[in-house]
Amino acid sequence: MSVGKSQIKKITTHQLREMKGRSEKIAMLTAYDYSMAKILDGAGIDVLLVGDSASNVMAGHETTLPITLDQMIYHAASVVKGVDRALVVVDIPFGSYQGNSEEALRSAIRIMKEAGAHAVKVEGGEEIKESIERILIAGVPVMGHLGLTPQSIFKFGTYTVRAKEEAEAAKLLHDAKVIEECGCFALVLEKIPAELAKQVAESISIPVIGIGAGPDVDGQVLVMQDMLGITQEFKPRFLRSYADLNSTITDAVERYIQDVKSVDFPNESEKY
Ligand code: KIV
Repeated sequence: MSVGKSQIKKITTHQLREMKGRSEKIAMLTAYDYSMAKILDGAGIDVLLVGDSASNVMAGHETTLPITLDQMIYHAASVVKGVDRALVVVDIPFGSYQGNSEEALRSAIRIMKEAGAHAVKVEGGEEIKESIERILIAGVPVMGHLGLTPQSIFKFGTYTVRAKEEAEAAKLLHDAKVIEECGCFALVLEKIPAELAKQVAESISIPVIGIGAGPDVDGQVLVMQDMLGITQEFKPRFLRSYADLNSTITDAVERYIQDVKSVDFPNESEKY
């Protein structure tokens, strides 16, 4: 098992499956703009997810439901421009694939054509099988997403851990199999018991990427603003903070304001 920055030059869906085969963990983060995508890609991230969490962290909405396909394409196109190595996966937003496989295909094709993305992600199992299959037939790689699926938050009514009861756990195991059998290249599991996530990762051949799903899966994903300490109000148990950018940025901006007000900035060497 290798640790640290992978030597792979360009990450493909095939590479991810090989990483699972040799027990090399997959590191995935979200990104929504060119500048951050360039930094994360340069640091060696394997997969960048243009998540519909952009609805929360970029647009300030309470849920992921309001973001549109056009807005997702805008974010995705910016991310793709900043990336040399990572695989760029883009969420198909709420209302653009669930009820109608023809619309699902149209949405996936727009994301691939207009943003230059490498793959798409959808939330759900058996109930969206037809949409997943239609997208896959067109040659677009699909990542699944089960467990806590934020596009269904009004059905769940709460952001608590999913699949703790036997019936929901059994459905999740079934849906994971459906996703594998359809031909999806990977699966995200969000906020489910670690033991169940382990069982899923062991029972399917495609990589399983967890968020709040414990360590026994094939990789991890976090929302970039959360792990860098930009968002302050969101502190679930599964989140590890790797920086306190909120304080760093606040401090820098306060010093800038002070320098402008006191006419310390710009100084002699900073003018023409
Ligand atoms: O939209 C998103 O950021 C996601 C991750 C939480 C997996 O779907």
